Amino acid sequence: MSVDVLLGLQWGDEGKGKIVDVLAPQYQMVARFQGGPNAGHTLEFDGIKHVLHQIPSGVFRSDIKNVIGNGVVLDPVIFRKEVEALVQMGVDVIDNLFVSNKAQLILPTHGLLDACYEQAKGEGKIGSTLKGIGPTYQDKIARVGLRVGDILHPNFKSRYQGLVERHRNVLDYYEFSYDLEEKEQVFFKAIEYLKQFQLTDTTYLVNHALSDNQTVLAEGAQGSLLDIDFGSYPFVTSSNTMISGVCSGLGIAPSRINEVYGIFKAYCTRVGSGPFPTELFDDTGERLRKVGNEFGATTGRPRRCGWLDLPALKYTIMINGITQLFMMKADVLNDFEEIKVCTHYKLSNGDITDELPYDLNQQQVEPVYNTLSGWKQSLDKVEDFSQMPKELKEYVIYLEEQLQVSIGIVSIGPDRKQTLLKTEFSA
Ligand code: GDP
Ligand code: IMO
Ligand code: MG
Repeated sequence: MSVDVLLGLQWGDEGKGKIVDVLAPQYQMVARFQGGPNAGHTLEFDGIKHVLHQIPSGVFRSDIKNVIGNGVVLDPVIFRKEVEALVQMGVDVIDNLFVSNKAQLILPTHGLLDACYEQAKGEGKIGSTLKGIGPTYQDKIARVGLRVGDILHPNFKSRYQGLVERHRNVLDYYEFSYDLEEKEQVFFKAIEYLKQFQLTDTTYLVNHALSDNQTVLAEGAQGSLLDIDFGSYPFVTSSNTMISGVCSGLGIAPSRINEVYGIFKAYCTRVGSGPFPTELFDDTGERLRKVGNEFGATTGRPRRCGWLDLPALKYTIMINGITQLFMMKADVLNDFEEIKVCTHYKLSNGDITDELPYDLNQQQVEPVYNTLSGWKQSLDKVEDFSQMPKELKEYVIYLEEQLQVSIGIVSIGPDRKQTLLKTEFSA
């Protein structure tokens, strides 16, 4: 069968974890294809709130295989913590989880390098999660990285030491002080722990599943505006968070991809540095942060908040070929009298455009807004699209017209159950 994909269309944290968990029962397999522990995907159901970092969000559905693909960078220490927390909750992780032997390993020194590079950048820092993502992908591309499969080889330790030596040279060059000993002890224990898992060639696993008529849901991490090629470079992450990452991060052909679901918040957030044209620095921004509980799931940092940005959304819909949209966190706007949507940017030379300029970092753009009426009521009792307040329906229809893609899901709360599915939406 085919692969459906769920991609964040903004700067991450759109609610991917929640929706993967909601859709998972329709699939036999859920697979992560890029990113690593920089991700924080939140799931809420039956009074439980759980944040996943590297483990796919299908893990709470017992009959689904979960795959960590070759495009992922894996931190064994964080992996161990995640698994132990899940086991405590009675989740069967060992049998249902498959880790690609080609996934790159995050070493303790990768995290140190991340911190060192950020410190060296000073004012220009990216605002990285400091999980070692950039330095690990850097080693992958430099062809010196260590992969999960390497841990089973007798020469693993010496290869580890060789790579750490390179890292130490860089850390010393920057005169970065660090203490590695304890981190290494924890790391090697975590490596031993990892060995009990199904470390395998997930390329065959996924492709055989597809040949066996199974359906796969690929779970994106981060969002397209953080993509290494198409995001607000250099304020991006180090992987292809867009559609292309699915093929290279799982080893599947583009022709295998069916639906490409694009997920966005009814407004906008960003955590870390970098351009954010619709960012609000006033009470409204503060209100969005408070009502939306906009604090990072991985780092706890307050998220920057602002109105929905249509030029940015049109761009990410275009580059990914989005076939269905899911709008999240509509409930956060419940009490707003007015809702603004940025339709265009006014450039410094006076030109008005709905396309993203080359360098949003240098170019100051002024958002041009359209104002819509809020619905001014709770959505707690709303059970399907037809019961949505008139103004919310109008908001959805307006966005569909602007974006030229149907909105198949409107999410009205963090819980699994607080999800409105359009009747014609069949995932
Ligand atoms: P992800 O990284 O895309 O999985 O998103 P995060 O988990 O980092 O951030 C999304 C946050 O919004 C989490 O705290 C979710 O529990 C929460 N959330 C998801 N959907 C909704 C919704 O419709 N309404 C509200 N109020 N919260 C939501
Ligand atoms: P999920 O999957 C939001 C941001 C960081 C920083 C930049 C680079 O939960 O949506 P990195 O650690 O990758 O070097 O950080 O990217 N970032 C995220 N922002 N959600 C995420 O993941 C993110 N992963 C990385 O804040 O600005
Ligand atoms: Mg997140």
